[in-house]
Amino acid sequence: MMDSKDFVYPSQEVMDYATVKSYDDLYHESIKNREGFWAEEAKRLEWYKPWDKVLDDSNHPFYKWFTGGKTNIIQNAIDRHLKTANRNKLAFIWEGEPGDLKTYSYHALNREVCEFANILKAMGVHKGDIVTIYMPQIPEQIFAMLACAKIGAAHSVVYGGFSHEALAERINAANSRVVITADGGFRRGKPTRLKDIVNKAMELSPTMEVCITVKRTGEEVYMENDRDYWYHDLKALPIASHKCETEQMDAEDMLFLLYTSGSTGKPKGLVHTHGGYSVYTSATHRMVFDIKPEDRWWCAADPGWITGHSYMVYGPLINGSTIFMYEGAPNHPYPDRWWRMIDKYGITVLYTSPTAIRGLMRYGESWVNRHDISSLRLLGSVGEPINPEAWRWYHEVVGKKKCPIMDTWWQTETGGFVITPLPVTPLKPGSATKPFFGHEVGVVDEQGNDVAANEVGALVIKNPWPGMARTIMGDDNRYNETYWSKFEKQKYYHAGDSARKDEDGYFWIIGRSDDVIKVSGYRLGTAEIESAAVSHSDVAEAAAIALPHELKGSGIHLYVILKAGLTGSKELAKELLDHVAKVMGPIARPEEVIFADSLPKTRSGKIMRRVLKARALGEDEGDLSTLDD
Ligand code: WT7
Repeated sequence: MMDSKDFVYPSQEVMDYATVKSYDDLYHESIKNREGFWAEEAKRLEWYKPWDKVLDDSNHPFYKWFTGGKTNIIQNAIDRHLKTANRNKLAFIWEGEPGDLKTYSYHALNREVCEFANILKAMGVHKGDIVTIYMPQIPEQIFAMLACAKIGAAHSVVYGGFSHEALAERINAANSRVVITADGGFRRGKPTRLKDIVNKAMELSPTMEVCITVKRTGEEVYMENDRDYWYHDLKALPIASHKCETEQMDAEDMLFLLYTSGSTGKPKGLVHTHGGYSVYTSATHRMVFDIKPEDRWWCAADPGWITGHSYMVYGPLINGSTIFMYEGAPNHPYPDRWWRMIDKYGITVLYTSPTAIRGLMRYGESWVNRHDISSLRLLGSVGEPINPEAWRWYHEVVGKKKCPIMDTWWQTETGGFVITPLPVTPLKPGSATKPFFGHEVGVVDEQGNDVAANEVGALVIKNPWPGMARTIMGDDNRYNETYWSKFEKQKYYHAGDSARKDEDGYFWIIGRSDDVIKVSGYRLGTAEIESAAVSHSDVAEAAAIALPHELKGSGIHLYVILKAGLTGSKELAKELLDHVAKVMGPIARPEEVIFADSLPKTRSGKIMRRVLKARALGEDEGDLSTLDD
């Protein structure tokens, strides 16, 4: 472990290039006049009608930003660029796994989005509707999101790795009438079969009426009359005009809904807005990565997660960047695929996860070194704490010691970066460093008091910010309960992570303190995993815990009590692993199943996962006073 005193300083070259040369001055200003800071940022964007009030905090915790303002995120992500030289700039470069290539200027992107928007309108999608998107990483996934936004419909993107049950649950919760999908995508040389999964999900969904399918793999798929439409067929009809007015939205209108896991079984649909989210994602992206017109930006995430929404699609497009997207596996056909593409397209900033870095690191540096990746000037990391070995490899082998690493801490709920360095920030490997402008972040004890330097506590955000989720769809109470009730008196946002702040004011994220497990950076709830396990007919009870995993950060370990009279076997263990992976999706596949006779519980019947974890790790079991013998 590196000592927390070991700074890694930016080079003179990085300092000379930087737009923001000093963090401290701007930070203090942004805290002294938070609303003024965000108003300045909002003024960089175009509005149909300016806002009356920057922040309406009259109904805590339901904050509103830029109230009275009218905009649409598309006004800034596309329309504004059509009036400038950006019109002919590349907005989007895409490479498919088989090696096919597509590029779109802002002009071309606009045509695609308008056509898609008109098709959605023709399918009866109205302002305020929620459209579910379940797609592989192909250009139409991004067009679909932008098309929804353009006509004022909200999108709910469901990650393409989720099972049909998980998809159906999300379609039903959002009351979606329309789902957009593809026949499949390419992954490790093989076509995936997404449309089959959508077909099964639709059988479980009473609200589904229309499914639009993009042809990608050309595999045979089942299509039903009057329900299923090929996208290319619709595109050939006169309804798919390439001219479409952008719908003028209230700043606070919903832009999208994104489901994420929490402590209970039901996934939470977090609501983000047109106005505040536009301001927040573009400001954070521009300042943290010091985005300039010549950049080629690669956020190697899936648009199915918040990282993809904020920093693959919306933030970069608002900033007029050229974004890059790749469809498939990082090691296909060889482990140099990423480095080859960075070389080929001249990528300048790579933003990815510690899991991806560890995965590529495993193949050794010779795969990196056979390509010229000197176009890179900055690197980024997100999703989980980055371990020192991965940090060093990323810094030395990928960044050749000249690219600072922006380790950005944030969440689906925050909409964008909250704790993050700037390129000029002296780094400490493994620390996300300091709060972004406008933020006061703390580490507190159970009562909400700041703990001393280097002590572990709960991570809180002490102020509202424009990119914050507004609520959990249809459940204001749960929103209040989950994030705002623990430190109600102080009005702090409770992030659910434990952390410490060192003597230099640098934040070190330790991990989730609730029943959320991060597997390869993906967020899964123990309750969801457990309910998937007990849906197997042999299982009476289950408990899921996270243990350290070399590649994934954490892996799931599943304790199972079988129904009376049954005994565990290797075959049954394998069957249960497959079952959980089938019910939830392959990312939720546990590492192992452990058959148990009983589980440690509190007297009120709650499973004490921390006791299981301590026992598995051979650590002290801590306070057992609430344990029911
Ligand atoms: C959780 C949020 C934010 C986009 C991707 C994940 C963990 C996130 C970091 C980081 C340490 C991190 C936290 C957080 N996390 N970034 N840089 N260092 N931990 O979004 O799925 O909503 O998960 O990811 O535990 O609470 P998410």
